Amino acid sequence: MAIGVWLVGARGSVACTVSAGAAAVAAGVAETTGLVTELPALAGAALPAMGELVIGGHDVIEVPLRKRAEDLAHGGVLPTAALAAVNDDLDRVDARIRPGVTSDQDERLADTLARLRADLDEFRAANDLESVVVINVASTEAQVAPHPAQRSLDDLRRAIDRDQRVLPPSSCYAHAALSAGYGYIDFTPSTGSRLPALHELATTTGAVHAGRDGKTGETLLKSALAPMFADRHLRVRSWAATNLLGGGDGLALTDPGALAAKVSSKAATLGAILSDEPDAPVHIHYLEDLGEWKTSWDHISFEGFLGTRMRLQFTWEGCDSALAAPLVIDLARLAGAAQRHGARGPLPELAFFFKDPDGTTEHRLSRQFDRLCHWATTLPSRP
Ligand SMILES: NC(=O)c1ccc[n+]([C@@H]2O[C@H](COP(=O)([O-])OP(=O)(O)OC[C@H]3O[C@@H](n4cnc5c(N)ncnc54)[C@H](O)[C@@H]3O)[C@@H](O)[C@H]2O)c1
Repeated sequence: MAIGVWLVGARGSVACTVSAGAAAVAAGVAETTGLVTELPALAGAALPAMGELVIGGHDVIEVPLRKRAEDLAHGGVLPTAALAAVNDDLDRVDARIRPGVTSDQDERLADTLARLRADLDEFRAANDLESVVVINVASTEAQVAPHPAQRSLDDLRRAIDRDQRVLPPSSCYAHAALSAGYGYIDFTPSTGSRLPALHELATTTGAVHAGRDGKTGETLLKSALAPMFADRHLRVRSWAATNLLGGGDGLALTDPGALAAKVSSKAATLGAILSDEPDAPVHIHYLEDLGEWKTSWDHISFEGFLGTRMRLQFTWEGCDSALAAPLVIDLARLAGAAQRHGARGPLPELAFFFKDPDGTTEHRLSRQFDRLCHWATTLPSRP
């Protein structure tokens, strides 16, 4: 049976690249480069095949996916030649996209949660799906102060009954997924399922969940390079990062609250890996001209034997969606397999994919990769 992949933010750049890319790979018109789940190290894992993934989702805009895909092809993200082969698939995904929820929505919270849940259940039934994994790839939300009702499931239920607006949109989607026992993965720095009340809900229903914020650029390099300094006993004095971003993501991060959420999710890596936490400022700037590309320039100052000062600088120029989309597909396949084999609750084994992983303090990329491979290849084979 197929696995449902429900993308929150289904009309965005990452989501559209997921829908087009999964269809292109399944049709044999694109290679699997960038898909971790296609590596020989994971060949022994019993994962759903690419053709077993059925995609749907929520969004708050109505631009047709064909148009989004054309724009992405025009911007050099999607190969124009593959578009003709996947347009019908994109139309099918388009027909499964439902209206989402915004923070200023004029709807009772209980009704919002019931509507989102009904969309997921209908998706499952209409496509005869074994299970559903909800993956948040919507615009980053502003960081907000926690509400006391988020502390426990009972408090949350009472607040929902009183129609208090105690959940940001990302957590409404997480609630809808977890209440049905479906998986929830947060690829963004938004709150999502990271609330005590929602962890309790996941425990009650046995739903799997993981996050948060996909690790695709500057933080990916930090988690690969910082262990080298640590293992060579070199003292990192400062690690200054400047990120230039175009696209919808870059624009969303011009909101100070959303920017704060992104900077905070990028902050944990160095402190977790290096024994002397360096001065590590992170700056993110929107540069419309970059389109779907991002540039990270990092300046690392470090000290060796006898206090000798040295420097490393790197420039990373990445295509945001080409880096992110295969990881979203990997997460769908891995979470789908976990559900299929009876996993429950948080999946810290997926930390490899995230800037700010749930359920573990391990940020070293190679350790995260080893843990992922061990876990995925020892999941029991398909019943
Ligand atoms: N591309 C990467 O490398 C990368 C890495 C880590 C995290 N992310 C995160 O992935 C997310 C998506 O990035 P993108 O480049 O596709 O952005 P995008 O702006 O192209 O797409 C975001 C989509 O979310 C939709 N959306 C906004 N609010 C919504 C809501 N309340 N409910 C449902 N949909 C909503 C928008 O309409 C849009 O279609 C961002 O939060 C970004 O921070 C991306």
